[in-house]
Order: sequence, then structure tokens, then C-alpha cells
Amino acid sequence: MTRGGTSVRTYLITGGTDGMGRGLGLHFLERGDRVVAVASGEAKGRAFLEAAQRIGAAERARFLRADLSTVAGMEAVAAEAEATLDRIDGLVFATQRFQQRRTLTDDGLEYTFALSYLSRFVIGHALADRLAEAPAPVIFNLGAPGGFPGRIFWDDPHFEREPYKGMKAATQASRAIDLLGTDFPRRHPDSRVRYVLYNPMFVKTGMAAPLPQPKRALTEAMAFLFAQRVPKAVAPMTRLIDTPPNEPVSAFRRRKRLNMASADFNPESAARLHDLTMELLNRVPR
Ligand SMILES: NC(=O)c1ccc[n+]([C@@H]2O[C@H](COP(=O)([O-])OP(=O)(O)OC[C@H]3O[C@@H](n4cnc5c(N)ncnc54)[C@H](OP(=O)(O)O)[C@@H]3O)[C@@H](O)[C@H]2O)c1
Repeated sequence: MTRGGTSVRTYLITGGTDGMGRGLGLHFLERGDRVVAVASGEAKGRAFLEAAQRIGAAERARFLRADLSTVAGMEAVAAEAEATLDRIDGLVFATQRFQQRRTLTDDGLEYTFALSYLSRFVIGHALADRLAEAPAPVIFNLGAPGGFPGRIFWDDPHFEREPYKGMKAATQASRAIDLLGTDFPRRHPDSRVRYVLYNPMFVKTGMAAPLPQPKRALTEAMAFLFAQRVPKAVAPMTRLIDTPPNEPVSAFRRRKRLNMASADFNPESAARLHDLTMELLNRVPR
């Protein structure tokens, strides 16, 4: 199959059934590409497939149900993609679920660390070689580079002693995502994969859904007034996914390109986080 002389591309989108992941998925389907949307909820998955059907893309759309807060779920998605997709042109990482209270996953890891950071680590590294076979492969990682300050709690990333706050966990995950992208070329030297870290800023999505009232209503009202709408937000993302910068890794806050020499992208911290993550993965029983 071709599209304007280019082969049909395949995108695997984690968090592809809501918000920006869904917006990107429907955009790719509309222009003739294939999309596998990964998420944990059946209802949103069905709604995504119905939306694909309405635009005549039913046979190019797939919903893969998985809980990406668990290492088993992350590894199952990578294995399924490896086994069933003959090519992968782009990985888009867009999962999130804000945790007001400290929550542990089935593996005993802090939930935000697992879902927002570890799932990107496991799936990105596992599929790097398959991705590199595509003509212009890209990993597009949605997070918050250049956004709210935050830090990695190196000695206590799961908030066992450090008092938990949802925002602290979310900003720790953002910093970890920055370092994951920074470190990627070191783990895959000479790879043609281009890694793009992207901060969409404030966008009206399903983001407020997990919040308790009245925080939820307040966030929804703020989003109604001040946040960008998904179609507008995804337009610059699609341009970056189609034509990422030449450098192996780059970071953007909307259209503004960020300086990779800043402390958030420190290569030593990135290598340290890689080692810490590998140790942690080795300890998860499976
Ligand atoms: N919205 C913003 O203003 C904003 C700002 C800065 C950065 N970002 C980043 O942009 C990305 C996309 O955000 P968004 O607001 O578009 O997200 P969203 O609308 O909240 O959608 C999140 C997606 O993640 C999936 N998900 C949640 N828990 C999951 C789990 N355990 N396993 C698998 N999938 C799961 C959801 O589906 P299920 O619930 O069915 O699993 C959904 O498809 C995120 O990485 C976020 O951090 C967003």
C-alpha cells in the first residue's frame, strides 16, 4: 500500500484512546496510516475503533488493551508489537493517570513512576531495533520538558519515606522522561531513530478525570477557559513526527526548541537513571 509514493506507516500509540494520543491516532488514520492504540480501558478503546470506522479506517485501526502500570503489561505490549507488526515507523508515548494519593502497582512500584516513566523505558528500548528498520523512525515522547520544575528522588523514587504529593510524582516522572530521551542514543548508538521529547503545555483532555471533586471541576473549568483543544495541539506534533530534527534527541515546549545542554538533560544523570531502572526491573519477579 502506498500513500503519495510513501509506504503506509504504522504507529504504536500508548495512551492512544484519549486526549492527545487519540488525536494523533485519528490524524494518522485519516491520512491513510495504520495505528495501534494501547490503553487499559475497554470503553475508550471501543470508542476509538468506532471513531476509526466513521472515517473509513476500521481495517487500519487496532486497540490493544493493556495495563501499562505493570511490567507484565509493558512487556506484553512490546512482545505483541514485535510479533504482529511487520513495521513500526513511530512510537508515541502518551499515557498518564494522575494519582492524588500514593498508589502502588501490582509490582509494588509507585504508580506514576511505573506508568509515566517505566512503560516508556521498557517499550522504547524493547522495540528500538524493529523501529530502526523503518525508513524514518521516530519516538515521540509526550511529557513536560521545560515545564514545572521537579526532581528525581534518587534514594526514594517510590516515595517510601519522602512525603507523597501527586505533583511531586508527576514532575519526578517528567524529569525521568527527559533523562530517558537523553540517554537513548547511548543505548542505541548509530540508530536512525530520532527521539523527540515534547511538552504540549496545557491541553483540554481526559486529564482531569481521575481527580476528586472539587479539584476535577476546577481543572475542567480552567481547561475550558485556558487550555488548547486537541486538534490544535496535535498539529505541531504531527509535523515533528513526520520531520524530526536531525539530532538523535531533541526537546520542545510546543514550538520552542529546548537547549539540550540544560541540567534537565544531563548525560551523567541519564546514565545513572538507566542503571537504577535496570536494577529495579531486575528485581521485579516474572
Ligand atoms: N493535557 C495536558 O495539559 C498535558 C500537559 C503536559 C503534558 N501532558 C502529557 O501528554 C500526554 C498525554 O496527555 P493527555 O492529557 O492527552 O492524556 P489523557 O487524555 O489523560 O489520556 C491518557 C491515556 O492514557 C491511558 N492510560 C491511563 N492509565 C493507563 C494504564 N494503566 N495503562 C495503559 N494506558 C493507560 C488512558 O486510557 P485508559 O484510562 O483507558 O487506560 C488514555 O488513553 C501525557 O504523557 C501527559 O503527561 C499533558
